[in-house]
Amino acid sequence: MFYDRLTLRRFLLQEYRTHGVEKDLVFLLEDIATACREISFAIRNGAFFGTLGSAASKNVQGETQKELDIFANDQFVSHIRNCSRVAALVSEEVEEVIWLKDSPAAGDYIVYFDPLDGSSNLDVNLSVGSIFSIVQLPEAIEAGDVASVLRPGTEQICAGYSIYGPATTLVITLGHGVHEFVNHLGTGEFRIVSGHMKVAEESAEFSINASRFGDWDAPVRRYIEECLEGEAGPRRKRFGMRWSGSMVVDIHRILTRGGVFLYPEDRDNRATGGKLRLLYEANPMGFLIEQAGGIASTGRARILEVQPTSIHQRTPVVLGSRSEVLRIEDHHTQMD
Ligand code: AHG
Ligand code: MN
Ligand code: MN
Ligand code: MN
Repeated sequence: MFYDRLTLRRFLLQEYRTHGVEKDLVFLLEDIATACREISFAIRNGAFFGTLGSAASKNVQGETQKELDIFANDQFVSHIRNCSRVAALVSEEVEEVIWLKDSPAAGDYIVYFDPLDGSSNLDVNLSVGSIFSIVQLPEAIEAGDVASVLRPGTEQICAGYSIYGPATTLVITLGHGVHEFVNHLGTGEFRIVSGHMKVAEESAEFSINASRFGDWDAPVRRYIEECLEGEAGPRRKRFGMRWSGSMVVDIHRILTRGGVFLYPEDRDNRATGGKLRLLYEANPMGFLIEQAGGIASTGRARILEVQPTSIHQRTPVVLGSRSEVLRIEDHHTQMD
């Protein structure tokens, strides 16, 4: 029943009491949840506001920005500003680090975010989402100290995403499992629907942009070919395939019913080392997948242990059910 379900606020206060989660982090997450509600509202009404289309600008990765990419970015920035502990923000849509404090900085939190993930889905009324990651530093940093913002994913204290789909949801981890909340339209509250999400150990569903087949390296091609061979092949079972065009949606499906998601480095994206971005796509999703018992790999190494060297750095991504990710890593080891 609806009223038996914990609100996000009560859940966060429980985390504060039982795991010592800081009150500032509780408030920060509530502010991020508010940003997500605002973005959800803007997307639902985007056709009336005329905001589903492209803006005139490009982001640092050379992608044409949607008006809603910029709107969502602004929502994240303005709500996160409420938290006095945040020193710096890193956004997909902003080239440089956004410093929230004048020097000397008083903040020890950094928030990384992809304000709108899968934004090419906006035109066709398919689901999109937002992704975020929070790192706490041992001490406050100086504004302009970019090196201090380049933290590996193992230092995340929180990660999550919101999906703007048939329901608006919020999925978070504070390092003690993965929890899913749904936004209730009457009260505006996020209420819990899944206490401890688990990625199924085994699965028979893969998620990859198969139009890039000709560009893949041999280990990825081998893995997918084995899946496609079905019952007659070495896997001895039939596989299903899904590709939504939005990482949040594909990862949410894997958290719900298992599977594996791949965006490998290939011949076409080798110059940038893959497509997806380490700090605000791969790391938060990797933390969530690990917290749910899955594996987050580059194909060769644990994503969370990659030491970033620049804020918009890209990485190959293999996320999901243990047995599938291990098999893909094994193919890389054997064929390298
Ligand atoms: P974004 O919209 O934030 O730029 O991210 C898009 C990403 C990711 O969500 C998705 O999995 C992938 O790009 C889709 O790539 P293809 O266009 O190759 O399908
Ligand atoms: Mn983009
Ligand atoms: Mn994205
Ligand atoms: Mn995006």
